[in-house]
Amino acid sequence: MTDPLSPLSPLRPPALVIGSVRVDPPLILAPMAGVTDAPFRSVVAEHGAGMVTTEMISVEGLRRRMPVTWKLARQEPALSVPLAVQVFGADPEAAAEAARMLEDRGAALIDINAGCPVRKVARQGAGAALLRDPARLVRLVEAVRRGVGIPVTVKVRLGWDGGSIHIVETARRLASAGVDAIAVHARTAVQQYSGRADWAWIRRIKEAVPVPVVGNGDVTSVAAARAMLRETGCDGVMIGRGALGNPWLFTVLAHEWGSDGGLFRHPDWGDFRRTVRGHVGSFLDGAPRPAGHLRKLLSWYSRGCPDGARLRSQITEARDVGEMLDRFDRWLEAVAAGGLEVLTVKLGSCQRLHPLPGAGALFEEAERQ
Ligand SMILES: Cc1cc2nc3c(=O)[nH]c(=O)nc-3n(C[C@H](O)[C@H](O)[C@H](O)COP(=O)(O)O)c2cc1C
Repeated sequence: MTDPLSPLSPLRPPALVIGSVRVDPPLILAPMAGVTDAPFRSVVAEHGAGMVTTEMISVEGLRRRMPVTWKLARQEPALSVPLAVQVFGADPEAAAEAARMLEDRGAALIDINAGCPVRKVARQGAGAALLRDPARLVRLVEAVRRGVGIPVTVKVRLGWDGGSIHIVETARRLASAGVDAIAVHARTAVQQYSGRADWAWIRRIKEAVPVPVVGNGDVTSVAAARAMLRETGCDGVMIGRGALGNPWLFTVLAHEWGSDGGLFRHPDWGDFRRTVRGHVGSFLDGAPRPAGHLRKLLSWYSRGCPDGARLRSQITEARDVGEMLDRFDRWLEAVAAGGLEVLTVKLGSCQRLHPLPGAGALFEEAERQ
């Protein structure tokens, strides 16, 4: 593998300025339903992201003050980077009201979901369905823009399907409507996660609009992040699945892009254990949590590591959380004794460009909620 810290990439993107919010490095954790909860966001923030995002949150749930909905927007006060709160909805005035409530509770930025292909969301005219009704999307942006003082962004896909890609024109209209940045997941809704993200569209949008454009789709390695910057000219990179069990991807990019204050040092397996145990600890803190999700967390962290498959099968058989963590510790001792470096293992593991196991299942889980 190429040394992840080699000075191969001459690109050092400047900080991303989205209205009043400065994102440095211009590296953003993507919203992921069922994944990017407060503990996940904290870990990724501590490891180098310039901004983190909640999962999509229902405008209606926020307006009705539903505790489960509001819980999704809550963040520990110690978060070291701006928090973008992503909302989904189809009604402009309702979205504006929800956004105002979020602003009052400390959100740094409101992101509007115009890309979710999940039936439950699209059926309401929200998410990716908004790409079929750009006039409504524009009204939504205008209403939210009028309603809050914080920056407003939109996360889009390319269109509903390959026969209806009007995203360049839509992006222009969004910019005129006052959006402060546009994040582009370069697939259509119908594609879901299949095939490769088509980054050429990110470049086309970047060339067409005066606001910052954040590229998203298939960045699961340092090399892919460099390539996305180079090939699209985007102002920031958003990482979703590549962040699962791999916050070190952010650490290395933040270092390479000169945004870590020179504080980089190679993590060792002790750091790895502290990260995982810290993540698990805050995940389990308070309310009882589903064992299945904890299993997924540990599986993600084990990806790419020697004997990871053995650990995954052992934690599947474990009867309770204590036993899972016990097995994890014993496995980790053996890995550490093997002498491989954490970054060699974790950055070597994330070069694949297709969905990581577990993510698809989680997405379906989110759909059922
Ligand atoms: C489990 C899962 C949940 C997701 N939930 C959301 C969501 O709530 N809002 C959203 O805009 N995109 C969501 N996405 C899409 C991601 O934000 C991102 O656009 C997509 O995964 C492509 O980026 P990647 O290749 O870096 O993963 C989700 C993706 C996954 C895998």
